[in-house]
Amino acid sequence: MTIFPRMSGIEALCQTPPGHNGPYVDYTDAALSPVRAFHRSIPGYTPTPLHRLRGLANRLGLKEVYVKDESFRFGLNAYKVMGGLYAVARVICRELGLDIAQTRFEDLMRPEHLKHIRKMTFVTATDGNHGCGVAWAAARFGSSSYIYMPRGASQHRVDNISRAGATSVEVVDMVYDDAVRHAGHMAEEQGWHLVQDTAWEGYTEIPTYICQGYTTMLAEVFEELKATDAPLPTHVFLQAGVGSLAGAAAAYLHNRFGDSCPTIAVVEPDTIACLYHSALQGDGQPHALTDESHTLMAGLNCGEPSLTTWPILRDIPSHYIRCADFVAARGMRFLSSPIGDDPRVVSGESGAVGAGLITLLMERENLAELCGSLGLDANSVVLTISTEGDTDPQMYDKIVRDGFCPTED
Ligand SMILES: Cc1ncc(COP(=O)(O)O)c(C=O)c1O
Repeated sequence: MTIFPRMSGIEALCQTPPGHNGPYVDYTDAALSPVRAFHRSIPGYTPTPLHRLRGLANRLGLKEVYVKDESFRFGLNAYKVMGGLYAVARVICRELGLDIAQTRFEDLMRPEHLKHIRKMTFVTATDGNHGCGVAWAAARFGSSSYIYMPRGASQHRVDNISRAGATSVEVVDMVYDDAVRHAGHMAEEQGWHLVQDTAWEGYTEIPTYICQGYTTMLAEVFEELKATDAPLPTHVFLQAGVGSLAGAAAAYLHNRFGDSCPTIAVVEPDTIACLYHSALQGDGQPHALTDESHTLMAGLNCGEPSLTTWPILRDIPSHYIRCADFVAARGMRFLSSPIGDDPRVVSGESGAVGAGLITLLMERENLAELCGSLGLDANSVVLTISTEGDTDPQMYDKIVRDGFCPTED
């Protein structure tokens, strides 16, 4: 294991990934085909754009930079709904005795099903985007949803969740991981269905559905690359909070590409990097961080790795990278100021950190060694996922237009 000490707001850990022999069973084509079919059946579903930023790639000396733009997802400005919606559909199918593989969105709209579905209540805790997805999904089916947010949640994100159709949104005086436990207690006490995007001992089924839901993003990427005959990614930068998204994506890539799997780096905020911290311990176990933390990257402000995706994130990535807020801010600014014919990408704090990271890796002398260890050069095809748009527009303006958070110090 090699540690790259902090330079330009970036600190990294590099390992030779131990790898994984067989396919990850939850992410095989067979396991994922109901996900794809269900998502496709949702009214208004359309793949989000995959931007090919040739101007940025030229400037950075990379072959290609792809940015998957989740600000276009169902008008919700973030990718999260892909997981929440699929999990809600799975819970409904389980309760009604339906087979998800044979069920499409319109089937659930039949009056004989709706009369049961409308009596169901879903509950979750969220930093914003996941709660928005669950509230929106529940509202599509006429079900109720109770959403809990940790202290410090932005008012705009609270309002977004209400607008998405939540029955109730409550900001509780707790950090995120405690808000998750609170949602779990409420589910038990009230007989509600907990749809949480992180797994723990005894609670793994629904988080796995959520992770499976996220893989549609990756499927869309590779469908589009194939259709346009564009080169496949050599490097994928995956931002992480609890690691459900990064783990799902890593398992998907590993299953799909095996030995030719792109280099995968996990990216976290420097103030709360529980996957970096777990990898550093080197005992193969997930390790939680319990101190209250502050980061602009609200969606990544989580201290406890998800139990089901941790083993994937332990075995597949070669790098774990902790980034200062400045890295995310730089990514937001780069994506909002296109180079040449590139489109403008509106990317929020948790969405832009991967883009900010590659700009620094390719432009800062003091990161050359880390860049070399990642194998980034003129032949590299880099994929990052802009997982959210301006979900906190005031903060977006402050960073992009007023220049807040200008330096690494
Ligand atoms: C915009 C955004 N990106 C990335 C993530 C990270 O997802 P995970 O917690 O699965 O690691 C989140 C989580 O809420 C998010 O909201």
